Amino acid sequence: MDDQLLTQFDRHIAERGYPNRSEAIRDLVRAEIGRAAWERGEETAATITFVYDHHVRELTERLNSIQHDYGQHVISTLHVHLDHHHCLEVIVAKGSASVLKQMADAITHTKGVLTGSITAAAVDAVDG
Ligand code: NI
Repeated sequence: MDDQLLTQFDRHIAERGYPNRSEAIRDLVRAEIGRAAWERGEETAATITFVYDHHVRELTERLNSIQHDYGQHVISTLHVHLDHHHCLEVIVAKGSASVLKQMADAITHTKGVLTGSITAAAVDAVDG
């Protein structure tokens, strides 16, 4: 590694509070392996977080219906009434990354859903 990159890396690990380079490198390698497994569509657990306006006509029913379509993958859901208009939901789901991405897309592409994202847990932590 050249000096400039190493200096940047040392600054990065200091900001993140790593005790040493080895621990930081281990995390980077784990993250990269997880990312590759996620891209291959392997078995994983993930959270899908989204915000929607529950006053949009039939939106609640549509979102409920999508979750039933993927019912075997949904482990748990959390619903928070953010304010008069907005609901926030978090779905914890388990399954192949490709199926979970499909479910997240179906939800976030529904009209009336304002923001949404999916976050994978460590892929190697879940049995197929
Ligand atoms: Ni609500």
